[in-house]
Amino acid sequence: MKMRAKPRAHARPAGLRELTELARAARLQAFAPFSRFKVGAALRTRAGEVVTGCNIESASYGLTMCAERVAIFKAVSEGLREFDAVAVVADSPRPTAPCGACRQVVWELAGDIWVHIVNLHGRTRTLRMSELLPLPFDARNL
Ligand code: THU
Repeated sequence: MKMRAKPRAHARPAGLRELTELARAARLQAFAPFSRFKVGAALRTRAGEVVTGCNIESASYGLTMCAERVAIFKAVSEGLREFDAVAVVADSPRPTAPCGACRQVVWELAGDIWVHIVNLHGRTRTLRMSELLPLPFDARNL
């Protein structure tokens, strides 16, 4: 069998373009008067439902909540448990990857899902949670 250096395109989940559009729309709801950095996220269940989130800032700064965690907390609170991908859209020269806190929370609640990060110029990267959070701490450690 011929070996390929790159993974096959179809190893990535379908529908990332649509998921990205939902994240792009969610970004417009961001409440970010302090950083002015708006982020949108769209999290998809294995059954194909999508839950979106945007970042919501606090004047205390520390209470700010990222778009990714808003999306996953919304989803879990609606009883959704099995996820396969999240798209994140932000206005940065390079696509914005989830912060450390979001990586931990997404790992614990969604596991090794696809993470599709996109900037407003259409630059994208698609990687797995296990690449973003190698050697994780989670329930298996307790
Ligand atoms: N932010 C997100 O919502 N997601 C990320 O992946 C990175 C950072 C938000 C938090 C804060 O409102 C603003 O972006 C600047 O850090």
